[in-house]
Amino acid sequence: MYAILKNVHSYWAFFVLIVLLLAVGNALRGKISGKEFGPNDLRISLFGLIFSHIQLLIGLILYFVSPWFEQWSAMGMGVMKNAESRLYLVEHPLTNILAIVLITMGWSMHKRQSESSKKFLRIALFYGLGLAFLLSRIPWDTWL
Ligand code: HEM
Repeated sequence: MYAILKNVHSYWAFFVLIVLLLAVGNALRGKISGKEFGPNDLRISLFGLIFSHIQLLIGLILYFVSPWFEQWSAMGMGVMKNAESRLYLVEHPLTNILAIVLITMGWSMHKRQSESSKKFLRIALFYGLGLAFLLSRIPWDTWL
């Protein structure tokens, strides 16, 4: 169970980052060029939302089945003193949950706008910030 979830979480992360990168790039291009917000713009933003929410669900389950979780009972608040356990048990989950909250806010805020340029701006800003948060707390050493 743990090994499968870890693998899925690890591979799915690629898709999440790529789709978010495409969604942010597309929103920036749309904003700069002043084009209409069309069905393809909606689709790529929706994919970003769905892919990141799936990763959140996988991550939440992984958190409790991962051997890292046992460190809470073994070390207690001592997990905060170790950079690696702090990353896996506190920084990575919290920052990524916050990132997905931002992405979700961007999605619902863009829907409330009627002007295309405002829609693109909401997606570019909130998805962009969410993506930056995700990138800041990925365990790069073990992942790649
Ligand atoms: C979109 C959000 C997320 C992305 C892109 C992401 C990405 C990653 C990546 C690339 C790894 C390294 C995998 C490896 O070493 O093969 C990882 C590990 C991990 N992630 Fe996430 N993650 C996200 C959200 C979350 C959330 C919300 C949680 C928990 C609430 C979580 C819990 C974990 C845990 C516990 C590990 C360590 C697994 C282990 O080595 O035992 N992740 N994540």
